[in-house]
Amino acid sequence: MKISGKAYRTIWPISENAVEVIDQTKLPHEFRTRTLKSASDCANAIRAMVVRGAPLIGAAAAYGIALAMREDPSDENLERAHDLLLETRPTAINLHWALKRMRDALRNQPRETRAALAWTEAAKLCDEDVETCRSIGEHGLKIFREAAAKKKPDETLNVLTHCNAGWLACVDWGTALAAVYMAHDEGIKLHVWVDETRPRNQGASLTAFELGSHGVPHTIIADNAGGLYMRQKKVDLCIVGTDRVTANGDVANKIGTYPKALAAADNRVPFYVALPSSTIDWTLKSGDAIPIEERSADELLKMTGRTPSGALATVEIAAPGSPAANPGFDVTPARLVTGFITERGLCEASKKGLRSLFPEV
Ligand code: MRU
Repeated sequence: MKISGKAYRTIWPISENAVEVIDQTKLPHEFRTRTLKSASDCANAIRAMVVRGAPLIGAAAAYGIALAMREDPSDENLERAHDLLLETRPTAINLHWALKRMRDALRNQPRETRAALAWTEAAKLCDEDVETCRSIGEHGLKIFREAAAKKKPDETLNVLTHCNAGWLACVDWGTALAAVYMAHDEGIKLHVWVDETRPRNQGASLTAFELGSHGVPHTIIADNAGGLYMRQKKVDLCIVGTDRVTANGDVANKIGTYPKALAAADNRVPFYVALPSSTIDWTLKSGDAIPIEERSADELLKMTGRTPSGALATVEIAAPGSPAANPGFDVTPARLVTGFITERGLCEASKKGLRSLFPEV
């Protein structure tokens, strides 16, 4: 996607020993990039959410392994880098998927070939992510076309999304937002309600930044506003991404997704989940087994923003001394999901639906 007319991915190699990423902790106030030169740089970037979003976490971990292989291609270092990266964030399964793919590609290869092989494999994984997201967007576009066709010619299609499932969460395009961009680009008159997505505000800071940069009409709303707007028939469809889908179709996504799905079901608003197949965890039978990341209470108790002077500042917003609990994700049961949008097409949110698209797994 483009920033000020220049095409970017979220991660790209800049030499044989370094990759560059967009520093998402600075957005939307500053557009800065950061250089990662080692597996521990990649692990730190994932942990600190310099890079975030399930597919991008996987891509950054893949380059983490590639950078580790440049330093020392031994079995021991491969395992060390794998374990270091794996423990960075617990919920998004793409991290496990990418690390397994890298390890499988390298394990039985001669050491002297591993550095080059790993670099090629990480680049391939990123290119595939872009194509996968493009396909998700094309399949999602069909839903947008159908929904738009039900509106009167001068009416706007109102879409609600939560968190950030756009190109910043992937290598390019995005999952849920890929369809939004494609629909907008082909002239469908749409408007996006952007959940601010407390506590880290990925919606207000990242999704709004993305949509604004692409010229997509949107409005940031408090996380609690969606239910009202659904009741008032101001939402035609919801579309979100996911960090892990279990074999039965349960969906882990950024905290606050589940209440949106409940409100959507109560108001008969279609609720779609867009995902690459790398987000499916075939080993877990249901969402109850998904590890939910517990994050720092500071994310809830403090806020960072730009002051009138232009400087960034962090302020306390809660009663001093009050404790806070901060689960990063929730689980939406499959029964509340209208359908999945994957790179292979649309399916029911169920074991049967997933199997129909991915029979080989
Ligand atoms: O904690 P984050 O920002 O890494 O959360 C991941 C997400 O961006 C969302 O949960 C997203 O909707 C799924 S990833 C496309």
